[in-house]
Amino acid sequence: MSTIALGSQNVEGCFADSGPREIRGLPFLGVLLNLRKDPPAFLMNCAREHGPIVPMRLGAHRAWLVAHPDGLQHILRDNATNYVKTRFAEKLKPLLGNGVATSNGETWAASRRVIHPMLKPTEVEALLSQIDSEATKVADEWAAGPTLQDLSRKSCEMTLRVIARTMLGAETSDTAERVVRAMDEVQEGISQRIWSLFSFTEKLPTARNRAFDAACADVLELVLETIRHRRANPGPRDMLAALLEAKDAEGRHFSDEQVRDEIMTIFVAGHETTGNTLAWTWEVIARNPEIQRRLREELLANVPTDCTPSLQTLRGLQYTQAVLQEVMRLRSSAWWFARTAVADDEVMGHHIKAGDSIIVSQYVTHRLEEFWPDAETFDPERFLGNKPAHKFSYIPFGAGQRTCPGGHFAMAEMSLALARVLMRLDLAPATSKPRDYQALVTLRPKGGMPIRTRPYRSAIWVKQSDVGGHALLDAALRLRREVFAEKLGWPLLVDAEGRERDQFDTDDASYPIILAGGRIKACARTLPAGKPTLLYEVFPHLVEDPGAKRPLRNIWEGARLATCPRVTARESMEWCRELLYQSVLQAMREGVTHILTVSDPVLERVLIRAGARPKRLGPVMRDANGFETLGLRIACDFETAHSLCGTDPAFSRLDSMVVFGRRAAEAVPPLETRVA
Ligand code: HEM
Repeated sequence: MSTIALGSQNVEGCFADSGPREIRGLPFLGVLLNLRKDPPAFLMNCAREHGPIVPMRLGAHRAWLVAHPDGLQHILRDNATNYVKTRFAEKLKPLLGNGVATSNGETWAASRRVIHPMLKPTEVEALLSQIDSEATKVADEWAAGPTLQDLSRKSCEMTLRVIARTMLGAETSDTAERVVRAMDEVQEGISQRIWSLFSFTEKLPTARNRAFDAACADVLELVLETIRHRRANPGPRDMLAALLEAKDAEGRHFSDEQVRDEIMTIFVAGHETTGNTLAWTWEVIARNPEIQRRLREELLANVPTDCTPSLQTLRGLQYTQAVLQEVMRLRSSAWWFARTAVADDEVMGHHIKAGDSIIVSQYVTHRLEEFWPDAETFDPERFLGNKPAHKFSYIPFGAGQRTCPGGHFAMAEMSLALARVLMRLDLAPATSKPRDYQALVTLRPKGGMPIRTRPYRSAIWVKQSDVGGHALLDAALRLRREVFAEKLGWPLLVDAEGRERDQFDTDDASYPIILAGGRIKACARTLPAGKPTLLYEVFPHLVEDPGAKRPLRNIWEGARLATCPRVTARESMEWCRELLYQSVLQAMREGVTHILTVSDPVLERVLIRAGARPKRLGPVMRDANGFETLGLRIACDFETAHSLCGTDPAFSRLDSMVVFGRRAAEAVPPLETRVA
C-alpha cells in the first residue's frame, strides 16, 4: 500500500457545555469567528466531538453541519426540493447572477436543461482535442520553464485556458486572461463575504468594497461584449454557441444577461476547482516517487504521445482515476456547499426548522472513519476496484439533482494534464513539509504549490507482443511507418492478425523508444540474442568470423532505427546516438557482447559519427536489387558507451532519417505485402 501524509490543521472549537448539542459559540456571533479562521478544521472538530450531524449558531440563525451520508442522501436526493440555495448563494450573485449554480426552482431547471447536456460525455469527447492541445501547450511551457515553479497558480491558469477555449472558442484569449485577472481579485472578496457577520457591511463605500464592485462590473461587461460580438458574428460550435441557441421551456432564447451568468458560472465552477485539484495532485506525485512511477507507466502505456486519446481510454486509466479520486477525497477543492430548508423536516431523527441552513462539507464527510478507515492516510488503492461503502460518503462533485455537471469534463481534463506533464517532467517536492490549505471558495494550497521539475527523458523498452495494446509502442510504429512506408515508400507488411510488421519482427522483438519533451524522438527494433532469426538466415555471412561461427547468444540483432523526420539533422543525430547508447547499455545488462546490424555504407558513416564504433563483417555485397549491403557489428562495452556519450560537431550533411537495414529489407521477399 502506498501512503503519503497530507498536512492537517487543527483549531480549538468553541463548543457549548455538555448537554444541548447545539454549538453556540459567542453571544450574537455564534461560531462565525471560528468559521472565518479555519472553516474545514473547525467543522471537522465539530463532527468529531458532536457527531456527523450537529447544529450550530451562525449569528442570529441556526445552521446544521450534516456530514453523515444518510443525512446527505435525504437532503440532496430524497427530499431535495425542500433544500434550496439562498443565504450563501446570494454572496456569489454579484459575479454569477442567476446562473445555474445560484438559482432555484424553474429558473434553475431551465438552466440545468441547457447546461447538463452541454457537458455530457459525448460533448466532452468532442472537446477532447481542444483540451488536449491546451494541456500539451502548457506542459511544453512548464518543461521549458524554470526548475522551481508554482504549479498551483499554473494549474489554475491552465484550467482557465481550457475553459476559455472550449467555452468561448474563437473569441480572443485576451478576453479569457482579463476574466481571470478580474476573477482573482473577486475570489478573496467573495470568501470574506461568505463568512461575514453582517450583510450591510458589503454595501458600505469602503475601498475594498469599491474595488470588489469594480472588478465584478469589469468582468461582467467584458463577457457581455463577447456575447454581443458573437451574436453579430456567429462563430464555430463551442459552448457559447450552444448557449446562444438554447431555448427555455417556452421556446424563448436566453437573454444576453442569462447567457453571461451561465458563462460566468461555468468559468468559476470549472476552473479553480479543477486547477486546485491538480495542484494537490502534483504535490502527492512529487512527494511519492512510487505513485509517480506507477502513474507514468499507466499513462505511457495507454495515452498516445502523438494524438488525443478517446474518452473511453481516459476513463480506463484505473490507477490515474484512483489517484485523482483519493486526492479529491482528502483535498476536495470544492470542500463545502450549503442549502436552506424551505419547510420543517426530520433528518436522521433531528428536527430541522424552515429557514435553517445546512452545511455540507466534503472535507468532513470524506474523513468519517466509519466510512473511510485510516481516513487521513492517502491511499489510492481504496478506489481500485472498490466503490465507496455508501454512495453519499464520497461526494467531491456533490450529489442528487444538483450534482456537478462538469464531472466528466474535469476528470478528462485532469487525466490529460497528468499524462502530458508526466510524459515531460519528473516532479519533486520543493519543501520538506506538505502545504497547508487556504479555504476560500475552493480549498487551495496556502502560498501556492512550489514543485521542482526536471525533464523526464528516458528510454522505454516495449515488447513487440504489445502491438495494439501499448500506446507508446503503437506511436513508435506509427513513426516507423511514417519514415519507412510514407517517406521511403517501402512496402508495409501485415501479418495474419492484421498487425503491421516488417520482415524481421518476431513476438520476442522489443522496441527501445526514446522519449523527450513528451514526444517520441527515436525508436528501433531489436531482436533478442540466442534465437535464429530471418536476418540471420538471410545474411549468414554476417555472423561468420573467418573460420568460426559467432555464438548466437552473444549477438543482438538490431534493425530499422527511425528518428523523427520532423527534427533537424543535428537533432536526429542526437537521438540516434541516445538510442544507440541506451541499446548498448541494455545489451550489456543482458550479458550480450555485440549488436549485429545490416546496413549500407551511408549508414555506416552515420554510425561512425554517432560514436558507435561499427566494425564491418565481411565485404560490401550487392543485394537482389543491386544495392550495396554490408553487415556491421557494434561492440557492447564501456568504451562504446563512452564514445556514444561524446558529441560530434559536424554532421549537417546527413539525412535526418537514419535507417539501419534499409537494403536488407528491400532484398528480402515480403511474406505478405500490402502497400499503404
Ligand atoms: C475537480 C473539479 C470540480 C469539482 C470538485 C466540482 C464540484 C462541484 C460541486 C460539489 C458542485 C455541487 C454544488 C452544490 O450542490 O451546491 C458543483 C456544481 C457545479 N459545477 Fe462543478 N466541480 C468541478 C468541475 C466543474 C467543471 C469543469 C464545470 C464546467 C465545465 C463545472 C460546472 C458546475 C456547475 C455548472 C455546477 C452547478 C450545478 C447546479 O447547481 O445544478 N464543475 N461542482
